[in-house]
Amino acid sequence: MEQKQERTNIQAHVLSHNASTPVRSRSQNVSTPTRSKSKCSGESSLSRSNMTPSPDTVACKSLNLAFDKLDLRNTSPVRYDNLYKTVKVLSKTILGNMATAQNRKNNKIRAVKKFNKVKLQRRHNISRGESFHVELKLMKWLRANPHEGLIAACPEHEQVDDPTDKYIVMPFASHGDLLTFIDKHGGKVADDVVRDIFLQLVSALQHLHQTAGYLHGDISPENILVSYDETGRLRVQLCDYGLACKIGSRHHCHGKKSYMAPEHYSTQPPKAKPSADIFSLAAVMFVLYYGKPAFETARQTDVHYSGLEHKCHYRASAYSSWLRAWGYSKKHCEWALLPTILTMLKRNSRKRPTLKSIKETLEGWKHWA
Ligand SMILES: Nc1ncnc2c1ncn2[C@@H]1O[C@H](COP(=O)(O)OP(=O)(O)OP(=O)(O)O)[C@@H](O)[C@H]1O
Ligand SMILES: [Mg+2]
Repeated sequence: MEQKQERTNIQAHVLSHNASTPVRSRSQNVSTPTRSKSKCSGESSLSRSNMTPSPDTVACKSLNLAFDKLDLRNTSPVRYDNLYKTVKVLSKTILGNMATAQNRKNNKIRAVKKFNKVKLQRRHNISRGESFHVELKLMKWLRANPHEGLIAACPEHEQVDDPTDKYIVMPFASHGDLLTFIDKHGGKVADDVVRDIFLQLVSALQHLHQTAGYLHGDISPENILVSYDETGRLRVQLCDYGLACKIGSRHHCHGKKSYMAPEHYSTQPPKAKPSADIFSLAAVMFVLYYGKPAFETARQTDVHYSGLEHKCHYRASAYSSWLRAWGYSKKHCEWALLPTILTMLKRNSRKRPTLKSIKETLEGWKHWA
């Protein structure tokens, strides 16, 4: 599978991102173009093979059947140009692009992800072809089993297909992604907004893990969409299921380095577990709260990540002083947030909390509301 490239790095990570750039290509904004395959210092998958399956893992098994039987044929093979007019290309993807388009019949604006069929069929793109099918399958499954925190495909009569390209038509999130949001507000987002976003994402992941039985595998600010509902309430939604994989399968996640769990650096692909998404979510919440990332990569060689483990022993009090030394500004409610974030970032995936317990902790932060 194509290695995901970074748009960010530890120094210039979020703050250097230019929100007004009209087209974001994966070949641009790259600090580290290739992912190292060297052995990760984290625990091996073998050491965890005798674990009792978590309730999360058990719950999803029966529901995977329904997911697998989903019919992926395009039942309304209308050509793109007959139904849509491209408004703006938002981003160039590896296999095509992501654009906004206007429906010629009802004038609604949609987000349309395009995949070139020739590129999908090339030998070196086979795994990308598989990930296209997973993405399409999940987006259609989510249309039938919706959750407001997870973007889903639009109805079948809005889907299109061309001889040269495949498309996934979805609702358009008017305020872009969380990276753009962090660019605008990074480090200054109100505590209760951080908590609200955190809770929304935990709930979205519970649906994805426990009901669909899938790991997202690529949680990052770029893959979290921002919009506001009719009442003006901020809503976040996970998108981009191109790296999603079945919980329990052996799969190398190739998500973005700054958000990838340490076990995914091992040479043997570990079993896909909810704890990998929980790690990435913590890394995202840290960036949202402090305006810059906690570390560059979750590896022993990364001074920021290994310091968190060896110097601070995941203790919020030690980590808080350490953050000051590194120039992170003091936050009002970090005493509530940091202990949770730190347990989610543990190298040992078995020691990370479950989504259920994270939710309970977040709901207990009365003084944040
Ligand atoms: N529904 C949407 N509404 C608004 N913007 C979107 C929507 N979906 C995606 N985007 C924007 O487009 C960007 C790229 O989309 P996406 O993450 O799905 O593709 P990608 O990561 O480039 O593709 P791939 O995984 O195929 O390589 C997102 O980071 C986000 O900024
Ligand atoms: Mg993406």
